[in-house]
Amino acid sequence: MAKTSRCLFVVSAALVPFLLAYVNRVPAGHAGVPGEANPPCSPCHTVTLNPAGGGVSVELSGGLTYSPGQTQRVTVRILDPDTARRYGFQLTARTEGLAQAGTFRPGSDTTLTAQAPFVYINQTASASIYSFEWTPPDSRELVRLYVAGMAARGTRDSRVYTTVVELRPAGTPPALRAENPVVNGASYAAGISPGAWITIFGENLAPAGVSRIWNPATEIIDGRLPTSLEGTSVTVNGRAAAVYFVSAGQLNVQAPDDDATGPVELKVTTPSGSARATVALLRHAPGLFAFSPQRSRYVAAVHAGGTLAAPGDLFGGDAKARPAKPEDVIQIYGTGFGPTTPPTPAGIVVREPAVLADPGALKIRIGELEAPLAWAGLVGAGLYQFNVVVPSLAPGDHLVVAEIAGQRSQPGLYLNIAP
Ligand code: HEC
Repeated sequence: MAKTSRCLFVVSAALVPFLLAYVNRVPAGHAGVPGEANPPCSPCHTVTLNPAGGGVSVELSGGLTYSPGQTQRVTVRILDPDTARRYGFQLTARTEGLAQAGTFRPGSDTTLTAQAPFVYINQTASASIYSFEWTPPDSRELVRLYVAGMAARGTRDSRVYTTVVELRPAGTPPALRAENPVVNGASYAAGISPGAWITIFGENLAPAGVSRIWNPATEIIDGRLPTSLEGTSVTVNGRAAAVYFVSAGQLNVQAPDDDATGPVELKVTTPSGSARATVALLRHAPGLFAFSPQRSRYVAAVHAGGTLAAPGDLFGGDAKARPAKPEDVIQIYGTGFGPTTPPTPAGIVVREPAVLADPGALKIRIGELEAPLAWAGLVGAGLYQFNVVVPSLAPGDHLVVAEIAGQRSQPGLYLNIAP
């Protein structure tokens, strides 16, 4: 025992000039950021990583949130059962993409270490508590503080404790409405299917005042639809959905491809937090698009020439509309009708129309009569078109129902027929 101590003393004494120079210079890149020295502070130190009985904690004056540009006090505490040890630490702040996040101002016993473009803060003397300032970035994104705290006996026996603290921009986390928060984007009925447009209702789903669709010129890249708008993203069963529209109260997204069926988790994430719901993922969850007047009573239908197929006064004379006649071929639209031939992946721009994989599984009924189908397939991301021959029916409103593999489109949807 005595021999070991003396030996250490001799080594330490020889290193005094180096040690004095060293304490200001813990090399950068040892805070435990993914891709850095692992374990942190190796290989110079022989490290025992996160042994039981000790730890490192990081506390911020603003808690776990930040406001862009508003400086906060950061306190790092190192706890080790052997209080005779000497302490040190290194900390850095990064975005999700691991870019530097904000700036540090050292307090006592701390200094900055740069390794462009990254900045670290670390000890200049042994202390079990270090305190300094951090000024957050202007961007509103998730920030992670990575810290490695050390309780050392020289370099040969160093206990390193690591932790990661997640900070979010101050703001209210998103919430989903209690009843039916996730519905088919055409029918607003429960149940979703891969590739289908879905609508999500809630609060704080996007920053207040925001209400927009994607920008095709800047946000659709190489035919890939965006998976995040204004910091809002959605996953279904852990897979990213394409995001078309965001507002605080409503999102429109395209469900990703997935072979799973049954209850799965849908998660909405914003810079201020996330919200989850359990949704039923089906192979087919068909819904037909409707014209919005009269509480979506009429199916969105178009004549061959482009005139809308609806009662003439449905749009108050603004848009040209005329009812359908028996024998007319009209186009109706839906989402959630399942696979196509060739297969069309979700999340990309559809450049070539693709027919339904099993056209025989689809039946469209108008007024209880089966309407012959001239064509049935996908014409845009998540968007199905059906060219339907109007059956011989009396003038008036007739129910329209699409059924595929036993699943039906919404009830209460009509086509207006005139002689
Ligand atoms: C490039 C090599 C190197 C790296 C990397 C390194 N150190 Fe050191 N460290 C040294 C040397 C050399 C000494 C002095 C050796 C001695 O005291 O026996 C030392 C000593 C220390 C001491 C004083 C130990 C004592 O018992 O007096 C502390 C505290 C310390 N380092 C903290 C850290 C922390 C924290 C990290 C990681 C964030 C780190 N070091 C990473 C080389 C390194």
